[in-house]
Amino acid sequence: MKMIFSQSSVQLFSILLVLRIIFSWAAELPPHEVNSLKEVAKEIGKRDWDFRLNPCDGNPNWATPARSAMPQYNNTLVCDCSYPGNVCHVVATYLKGQDLDGVLPPSLAKLPYVKKVEFSRNYLSGSIPSEWASTKLERMDLLVNRLSGRIPLFLGNITSLVYLSLENNMFSGTVPAELGKLVNLQTLVLSANNLSGELPLELNGLTNLTELKLSSNNFTGKIPNLGTWIKLQKLEIQGSGLEGPIPASISFLKNLTQLSISDLDGNSSQYFPDLSNITGMELLIFRSCRLTGSIPNFLSEMSRLRHLDLSFNNLEGDIPDLKELDLEKMYLTGNSLNGSIPAWINGGDTTHEIDLSYNKFNEESVPSYCRETLNLFRSYVPASNSELGKCLSKFPCLREYSSIRINCGGPKVTIGNLTYEADEDSGGAAKFDPTSGFWGTSSTGNALGARLSPLSITYYGRCLPNGNFTVTLHFAEIVFRDNMSFQSLGRRSFDVYIQGVCIFKNFDIRKEAGGVDRAVIKEIKNVVVTNTTLEIRFQYAGKGTTAVPSRGSYGPLISAISMVSDISPPISDKSIKTIVIVAVAGIVCLILIIFGVERLAFYMRERLRWERDLRGFNLQTYQFTYRQIRAATRNFSASNKLGQGGFGAVYRGTLSDGTIIAVKQLSQTSNQGNREFVNEIGLMTGIQHPNIAMATLVCYWIGLQGKTFVWGLAFLHEESILRMVHRDIKAANVLLDRHLTPKIADFGLARLFSEDRTQARTAPAGTLGYMAPEYAYTGQLTYKVDVFSFGVLAMEIVTGTPNVYPPADDLEYLTIVHRATALQQQDESLIHLVDSRLGLHFDAEEALRMIRIALLCTNNNPNERPLMSEIVDLLQGNINLQDYRVRSPETGHGEFSNLVLSPETYHGEFWNLVLREHIEEDIYLE
Ligand SMILES: *[C@@H]1O[C@H](CO)[C@@H](O)[C@H](O)[C@H]1NC(C)=O
Ligand SMILES: *[C@@H]1O[C@H](CO)[C@@H](O)[C@H](O)[C@H]1NC(C)=O
Ligand SMILES: *[C@@H]1O[C@H](CO)[C@@H](O)[C@H](O)[C@H]1NC(C)=O
Ligand SMILES: *[C@@H]1O[C@H](CO)[C@@H](O)[C@H](O)[C@H]1NC(C)=O
Ligand SMILES: *[C@@H]1O[C@H](CO)[C@@H](O)[C@H](O)[C@H]1NC(C)=O
Ligand SMILES: *[C@@H]1O[C@H](CO)[C@@H](O)[C@H](O)[C@H]1NC(C)=O
Ligand SMILES: *[C@@H]1O[C@H](CO)[C@@H](O)[C@H](O)[C@H]1NC(C)=O
Repeated sequence: MKMIFSQSSVQLFSILLVLRIIFSWAAELPPHEVNSLKEVAKEIGKRDWDFRLNPCDGNPNWATPARSAMPQYNNTLVCDCSYPGNVCHVVATYLKGQDLDGVLPPSLAKLPYVKKVEFSRNYLSGSIPSEWASTKLERMDLLVNRLSGRIPLFLGNITSLVYLSLENNMFSGTVPAELGKLVNLQTLVLSANNLSGELPLELNGLTNLTELKLSSNNFTGKIPNLGTWIKLQKLEIQGSGLEGPIPASISFLKNLTQLSISDLDGNSSQYFPDLSNITGMELLIFRSCRLTGSIPNFLSEMSRLRHLDLSFNNLEGDIPDLKELDLEKMYLTGNSLNGSIPAWINGGDTTHEIDLSYNKFNEESVPSYCRETLNLFRSYVPASNSELGKCLSKFPCLREYSSIRINCGGPKVTIGNLTYEADEDSGGAAKFDPTSGFWGTSSTGNALGARLSPLSITYYGRCLPNGNFTVTLHFAEIVFRDNMSFQSLGRRSFDVYIQGVCIFKNFDIRKEAGGVDRAVIKEIKNVVVTNTTLEIRFQYAGKGTTAVPSRGSYGPLISAISMVSDISPPISDKSIKTIVIVAVAGIVCLILIIFGVERLAFYMRERLRWERDLRGFNLQTYQFTYRQIRAATRNFSASNKLGQGGFGAVYRGTLSDGTIIAVKQLSQTSNQGNREFVNEIGLMTGIQHPNIAMATLVCYWIGLQGKTFVWGLAFLHEESILRMVHRDIKAANVLLDRHLTPKIADFGLARLFSEDRTQARTAPAGTLGYMAPEYAYTGQLTYKVDVFSFGVLAMEIVTGTPNVYPPADDLEYLTIVHRATALQQQDESLIHLVDSRLGLHFDAEEALRMIRIALLCTNNNPNERPLMSEIVDLLQGNINLQDYRVRSPETGHGEFSNLVLSPETYHGEFWNLVLREHIEEDIYLE
């Protein structure tokens, strides 16, 4: 019985095996489709498809699994292998977030079964190729590219299209009437292009549309009749150039759930449209639409309404009773509402964000307290005509301020004689922040999709002397990049109002400054202050892109503001302009001028955290002129050049008083991000340790090869007030001074960890060969990532071999660490790994100990790696290697004293020997 069973199962197994072999042999693309794919790859700029592998067998090269750390990245070729004759066909290709720099591939038309293409967030240029007219595409997603020219007429021939998105490109001209032939179209997104002219009537034939987005264009004419699009669920017309009024036919769109109309052109005012039959509404935006009359009561029937934005209209009367709704956000700012603030708002749920600023509410109904989530800035017409909000009465004007300077989103800084006040509040969707009595902010709204920038933010100064003021606004574009990436394809545009008067319409920082990360300063003279207050408002007006670098990145950006009375002695800000190009590492002041004086807090939560961590450090400030820097570096002479860093060249310089400095020249084409730069400068100045290069005011970027050693890591991980993961420990980032004291440099990638955190998940960054496997694969970031890199570095030092290049006589192992691991597993002696150039002049026991420690550190399992402090103990011999057990994975710090070693306190001579052996061509820190 037993026998028979196992025999039959063997047979079954072989049948399965045969089937499996037949299947995988058969499941391939026909050769002409493979050839077409090769052409597609060439045209679109896809260089990493491996044609030796079968594109249809799920190989990661062709279908990369999802990575949570990079939600916009997708690399998937989809085959359908169910066709008769055991043939596969390519049916879809998703290449998203890859910065592909070619064109839309004409050869796609030679893949006749392809139905879906998604090429979003790349750097594709040109237009849509005419070859595509013959395809049977159903889905075409070209979001965030730099496609240009007119929308081709033949697009109307691809009648199979169900989904078409051209959002965030540079298409211009009119929308062709031919698009009206796409009768199956359900989604049409044309937002964030430069389209003009009137919309063709033929679009009304697209009766299957459920989603239509036309925002941020330069259309003319009125909003078309909407009544034929009865299936519409999402309609977005923000900053489109189209004129009001909102047609009455909108009331037929009963299935609408998301309706956003804003910033209508023209000057026709209108009453609130009748939406009484649209009961499934979840999001309703009528911003800057010139609505008059009262807010209708039917809103209270929209039981699913979560987000209501009626800001910047002329609405009057009372707020209807919406207390039964589960409203999360309600923005009524900038209207003429003149009833009482209802009790359901005043005493209501404080988690809901409600903005009633800039209205005319009955003064008695306005509470005198400030609440985080209820903005009552200028929400009523005060009897005394001087107050901005009742809650400011707690901050009486004790004296007059003839000048106010604010470092928007940053800490307090002093530049020369000028002090810029700290403005570190993160803002809020409906927040009135009377920060310090004499100035403050009022912010409204949030960018949809993510909380980044407010829709509108007002900076106000009060307690000012009446009279003329000069307002200076400092801007710098710090979010978009200037590289060959989709991150450079964002466009920011906002309006600036001073004392309620629009002074800049569609202000584009990058255009004004001539690039990203450059300062642009606008001075506005003769601003009249009458009621001792001055208000500067920055407002998003529906223009610009919203999907770069990620959905929700838009809104105004401001770096610093100053308001100076003409009566006070004038103080020149001129020096700010002259030194923008040069930064001296370790001297913060310059950095603060270029980047620090910026609206960090509204930018990214991550950055905000970084900012918070830096607060409280006494930053020394110096000021140099460009001329001084040039003299110090002998006009940036080649002989003074020390090296090339991520940002550009680094020069040695001598100031007139003999101080030696390093000068980092920012290059326009640098590939290191602004964020990394600010990061580094900030970290440098906050850390004081003899083994960390930046603690001295000087630093170099120099390349060393596997020759030196680090002692400061334990400090970084466990002792420093700013605890951090460096993320890029490698030989090139360890510098030696003339006493051979090693110093850790290049904090461009360092990540701070707050007191209670020991891990994070981020997109992996670092250097190949030094990156811990769990970090490279999953983005899981802990202190143990540095421990791994340290292990690699230690191994390099002992062996005198760079990790990633296999020694000439040993091609079997990828890295020197692999080789050592294999030797250890085979119980072979590790002593042969030691750098042969040392001859016999070393202590074998010390060398072996070092190799074993390096192996401990490079364990694939991060929990098995020791803490840096334990490594110090292991090196010193305080802990015996044989006795070492992993103690407490991921516990932080504080259990060890005397963690910091220097070569002097280390008793062995081995390291000094190694160091001296490799010293010839090294550059030292002074
Ligand atoms: C890639 O995108 C397609 C279409 O949007 C989606 O169905 C698929 O799950 C994505 N794949 C990964 C790995 O993210
Ligand atoms: C589109 O279709 C029309 C007929 O409907 C035809 O005349 C025209 O040549 C087609 N365009 C392309 C580019 O195939
Ligand atoms: C809407 O789409 C369906 C199928 O997708 C199609 O049969 C129908 O003709 C379309 N409607 C119109 C008005 O063309
Ligand atoms: C939009 O069109 C108007 C004319 O209708 C033109 O003056 C303006 O420059 C255009 N704006 C852009 C951004 O192209
Ligand atoms: C509106 O939605 C309902 C429910 O989803 C659906 O039954 C109905 O057909 C839709 N109406 C139109 C005009 O599409
Ligand atoms: C709302 O629907 C009712 C019943 O279908 C209809 O009588 C009324 O005219 C509709 N109102 C609007 C504004 O469309
Ligand atoms: C700072 O103030 C002092 C005197 O108060 C003056 O001599 C000096 O020129 C000022 N410096 C700048 C940069 O304005």
